Amino acid sequence: MKIVMVGAGYVGLVSGACFADFGHSVVCVDKDPGRVAMLREGRIPIFEPGLADLVAKNVRDGRLSFTDALGPSIAGADAIFIAVGTPSRRGDGHADLTYVFDAAREIAAALDGPCVIVTKSTVPVGTGDEIERIIHEARPDADISVASNPEFLREGAAISDFKRPDRIVVGVEDERGRAVMSEVYRPLYLNQAPLLFTGRRTSELIKYAANAFLATKITFINEMADLCEAVGANVQEVARGIGLDNRIGSKFLHAGPGYGGSCFPKDTLALIRTASDHDVPVSIVESVVNANDKRKRAMARRIIAACGGDVRGKTIALLGLTFKPNTDDMRDAPSIAIVRALQDAGAQVRAYDPEGVEQAKLVLENVEYAPGVYECAAGADALCIVTEWDMFRSLDFARIKATLRAPVLVDLRNIYRPEELRALGFSYVSVGRP
Ligand code: UGA
Repeated sequence: MKIVMVGAGYVGLVSGACFADFGHSVVCVDKDPGRVAMLREGRIPIFEPGLADLVAKNVRDGRLSFTDALGPSIAGADAIFIAVGTPSRRGDGHADLTYVFDAAREIAAALDGPCVIVTKSTVPVGTGDEIERIIHEARPDADISVASNPEFLREGAAISDFKRPDRIVVGVEDERGRAVMSEVYRPLYLNQAPLLFTGRRTSELIKYAANAFLATKITFINEMADLCEAVGANVQEVARGIGLDNRIGSKFLHAGPGYGGSCFPKDTLALIRTASDHDVPVSIVESVVNANDKRKRAMARRIIAACGGDVRGKTIALLGLTFKPNTDDMRDAPSIAIVRALQDAGAQVRAYDPEGVEQAKLVLENVEYAPGVYECAAGADALCIVTEWDMFRSLDFARIKATLRAPVLVDLRNIYRPEELRALGFSYVSVGRP
């Protein structure tokens, strides 16, 4: 099959490389000539484990290529995926569909035969209808089907999520859409990955419902963590105790500083907007968004309290800035609210992150960046683990204690045992544990 992927961002690049690896012929199109030049030289603009090798292999084998010219790439395509960004629109939380509709217009202008146009971008219910309308308006002769195929991959585990998905959701309105999408995913179908066909609007909503549900699960356990602290219980044991019930499931029950990233914050807001446009209450999702926003700032208060209630003139060392490990992504990372609140309280912030520093520099000011964990801790008044990178899981605490000005450790990801750290002489604070 010939596949065109419009947008070589996170989703487009991972999906394009994986489709090529299945044996399809894939052209990734991006408006940014700098990005295209970089990809042609074999350099990958994002940090995602395994992606550079996968791209290199498929480029070498002639199945994957990059271009900034959409028109010529479309000739003979069986499926054209739209995988451009849908950021939150400033002010109202609605998904901004400018890039999606621009892509639809450009595709319409270049169409030269029958094909299926598929949205992989996360788009509100009804966007597929609008794409269909835009294309038919520009090209009444167009012989197209419009499908929805939301992506469920997680940053940091994107390739394995793509190749071994829990499910593939495809929304179609006609037989051709169904036939072409079955062919696109045939390599996974043979692996017995469940391929769920639904209507297009349902498929669009499934994406938002999935992310809102996961955000709710995290927020629920975070509130249970607060309750555990108040009543002297242990949130990790509560999570295990409820998670073993198959109806609940044990995943996404790790208490922490609140969810961040490029998806949950934006998609929960967009779902709220869609619901309000249709006058349907989604009060649970609204509560989740509010609780998560408050939580990020509350984490800074927790650090300040661990330092005796005052951080004026003190240096706070933070380990991990990205919204989660194995990514360089800083979008809506809890660290942003934490750093700003610490600075507002008069602290000097020093930080170390294995991959996120370049992105962090774009959003944070007046942060001192250390070249490693121990340099970060040296002379600080407290050390705080914000993101659970693997390399923070077996720290040399004797060395850290010797260099810290005060042995204060705040572990916002619960990666250590309280009794062990206290036995080492630390004043240790974590989340939802006695
Ligand atoms: C999320 C979804 O997990 C993917 O299925 C989806 O495809 C993607 O959004 C998207 O819509 O594109 P991602 O944002 O990469 O993926 O990251 P997650 O691993 O889901 O983590 C999101 C946030 O929740 C992180 O800040 C993480 O630290 C936090 N989290 C996650 C917790 O605090 N506790 C948990 O138990 C799990």
